[in-house]
Amino acid sequence: MIESFRFSRLPLIIFGRGKSRELPALIRNFGNRMLLVSGRFSAMENFPGLSFAGVLEEEGIEVEKLVVSGEPSDRLIDDAVSHYRKHPPDLVVSVGGGSVMDAGKAISAMLTVEGNVRDYLEGVGFREHPGTKIPFIAVPTTAGTGSEATKNSVISRVGKDGFKKSLRHDNFVPDTALVDPDLTISCPPEVTAASGMDCFTQLTEAYLSTRSNEYTDALATEGLKAVRASLTRVFRNGKDSDARTGMAFAALTSGICLANAGLGVVHGFASAAGALYDIPHGLICGSLMAASNEMTVRRLREQSGSGPFLARYASLARLFIDDAGKKSDERLIDEFIEYLYELTAGLNLPGLRQAGISENDLPEIALNTESKNNPVKLDTEDLMAVLQKRYF
Ligand SMILES: [Fe+2]
Repeated sequence: MIESFRFSRLPLIIFGRGKSRELPALIRNFGNRMLLVSGRFSAMENFPGLSFAGVLEEEGIEVEKLVVSGEPSDRLIDDAVSHYRKHPPDLVVSVGGGSVMDAGKAISAMLTVEGNVRDYLEGVGFREHPGTKIPFIAVPTTAGTGSEATKNSVISRVGKDGFKKSLRHDNFVPDTALVDPDLTISCPPEVTAASGMDCFTQLTEAYLSTRSNEYTDALATEGLKAVRASLTRVFRNGKDSDARTGMAFAALTSGICLANAGLGVVHGFASAAGALYDIPHGLICGSLMAASNEMTVRRLREQSGSGPFLARYASLARLFIDDAGKKSDERLIDEFIEYLYELTAGLNLPGLRQAGISENDLPEIALNTESKNNPVKLDTEDLMAVLQKRYF
């Protein structure tokens, strides 16, 4: 029987190699004055022959530019908003990775309201955003966060009293997601690995989530198949355009799934560690994915009534393990955990010490980690054990 569910709106999705050529026409649907948000290393060079900004200006579109480096802070958003509030652009276009897309998404939402972005962040501020925004187009140049399809923007302040929290509203889903896998071709292997593991974690957590439904399952399954077929390939050869296309599809799908089914404890860790350290989100997810799933499975096996969740783990494992038909569910799950450890090592994802995390901060990270929609809630001791296992 199919149980009832609720599914948020989607952007207009335009997906495929070479589709970034449609950007000028898409922009015109919203106006002629735009704010272009991009990363420090302009991925816009990927536009055939010219930079995006150059192409757009040639097309008669007035372009203001904002460069974002690293994950967006509340100050970056507030500064940009106060700069553009008097004469807001007709639309915001983000061309970049997750941080760039999140920055553009937050700016488009904050240009229509008073106050600082911090006031509206979940778990930090006390104001409720009405969901108004100016139009926003997301053009990803990495395959990872799926921010092109989500309704939240993650804003961080790093350090003591830091936070890593979301500005969220159903209406913040981008108006258009223009996903051109060719734009990810020049993404370096370490970024490809970290963002690919973010995407894999998101699909896995959405599939296993206590809030998953038939609709998100169907999408997550296809995204997971694409990860299986493409992630290792694209890490070994970044120019493999079929594998780049597979990962771009998986990332987009992971965004849709997380927006509708939620996430699990790996993202709980990433949010707690991300408030203390400026370490790429995908790197933390990738480093902790195998050990977190191992602990979750251990606790599920000890708990009565976890049969349905273990059965879901086994269906997930079937997508990744060869000769699955001949193996018991228990063996499939064990081999899946093993697969995750091998993948983590194969993609050269670091341990937490290598990533720059101090051992003294592990208790605080464990204390601030939420299990979110994990199939079983992990207690602080379990969380510490996961962190310690990955501390090298
Ligand atoms: Fe993520």
